[in-house]
Amino acid sequence: MSVTSREVHLIERPQGLPKPEQFAIEEVSVPDAGDGEVLVQNLYMSVDPAMRPRLSGQYALNKAMDGGAIGRVVQSRHPDFKEGDVVQNGQGFREYFISEGRGLSKIDPDGMPLTTYMHVLGGTGLTAYGGLLVTGQLKDGENVFVSAAAGAVGSVAAQIAKIKDCYVIGSAGSKEKCDWLTDELGIDVAINYKESVLHKNLKAAATNGIDVYFENVGGAHLDAALPRMNPLGRIPVCGMISAYNNRGSISEPVTMLSNIIYSRVMLRGFVVYEFNDLRPQFLDDMKRWIREGRMKYRETVLDGIERAPEALIGLFTGMNTGKMMVRLAEE
Ligand SMILES: NC(=O)c1ccc[n+]([C@@H]2O[C@H](COP(=O)([O-])OP(=O)(O)OC[C@H]3O[C@@H](n4cnc5c(N)ncnc54)[C@H](OP(=O)(O)O)[C@@H]3O)[C@@H](O)[C@H]2O)c1
Repeated sequence: MSVTSREVHLIERPQGLPKPEQFAIEEVSVPDAGDGEVLVQNLYMSVDPAMRPRLSGQYALNKAMDGGAIGRVVQSRHPDFKEGDVVQNGQGFREYFISEGRGLSKIDPDGMPLTTYMHVLGGTGLTAYGGLLVTGQLKDGENVFVSAAAGAVGSVAAQIAKIKDCYVIGSAGSKEKCDWLTDELGIDVAINYKESVLHKNLKAAATNGIDVYFENVGGAHLDAALPRMNPLGRIPVCGMISAYNNRGSISEPVTMLSNIIYSRVMLRGFVVYEFNDLRPQFLDDMKRWIREGRMKYRETVLDGIERAPEALIGLFTGMNTGKMMVRLAEE
C-alpha cells in the first residue's frame, strides 16, 4: 500500500511579492513505512515570513519546500512511535512523509488545542517571550512599542508586556486589527500605520517615550521609533518583514540611527533557538496566562495544501490576524 501525497514546489524564484503561479502543487506516491520508520500525515503547517528570503535561494526549485508542521503517525515500524502519536516536524508543505524519527517530537496537548503548539505555545510564542524578556530585558511598568502587533509574534509580545503592567503601543495595518488589539487584548494604543503618518502618531502616543521597541518590521517603523527611545532603551530586533520582498532583504533607509548614541540605546538581533532552555518556564507561564484569560490568540487558517502559496503571500499583504497556518487534514 502507498499513499498519494500532494506537496508544494517552488518553480520560479520571485522578485518582489511572490505570485501564486511561481508555485506548483505536485502529486507523489509515498510508500509504506519500512523497518525503523514511521509514515506521518500532516494536519497543520506553519507559514512564516522567514520563508520569503528562502524563496530567493535556500529552497531548491522543483522540490518540496519545507517548514514547521504538526502531523499524526498513521503507520509505525519505529520503537519510539505508535500510530496516533501527534508529532511536531519540519516537513511542512507536504501531506504525508516517511521519517526515521529524526526531527520528530511528540506533542502532549495537555488540554490545549493542538494548533496552539504552532503559535502561542510554539515557536512564535517563544520568540516573543525570549525576545521581550531576555533580549529586550523588559521591566515591569515600562513603555513598550510593538510593530506587526496583530501578528503571531507581535500579539504575544504585546500581551506579555501588558501582563508585566507596561504601557503598550502597537502598530498594525487595518482598523479591524487595531480594534482587536485595544478592545480584546487590552493594548493601550493601536496605530493603523496604513491610514496615518506613523511617526506623528507614535510621537503623540509615546508621551513617556519608549523603553523597549519590539521590532518586527524595520524601515519606516524603526525610523519612527528611534527618536522616541528613552535613555538606556532596548530594541530587540526580531524581524524586518518590510525588507523581505527586496532583493537581498535590503531594508528601506533608516535615517535616525544616531539617536542611539546619547540615549545609549541597545539594538540587538536575536533568533528563537537562543531561548530553547527557557522552554519549560515559557510553557508554564503561557499555559497559565491562557487559562487565566490573560493571553488570547487568533488564527488565520486556510484549508488545503493548495492554499499554502496564498497563505505565504498573504503574510505580506496583511491577510492574517494572529498565526497564519494551513490545515492539511482534519484532526
Ligand atoms: N528572530 C526570530 O527567531 C523570529 C522568529 C519568528 C518570527 N520572526 C519575525 O517576526 C516577525 C513577525 O513574524 P510572524 O510569524 O509573527 O508573522 P505575522 O506578524 O503573523 O505576519 C506578518 C504580518 O506583518 C505585517 N506586514 C507585512 N508586510 C509589512 C510591511 N511592509 N510593513 C509593516 N507590516 C507588514 C502584516 O500585518 P499588518 O496588516 O499589520 O501589516 C502581516 O500580517 C517577522 O519579521 C518575522 O521574520 C523572527
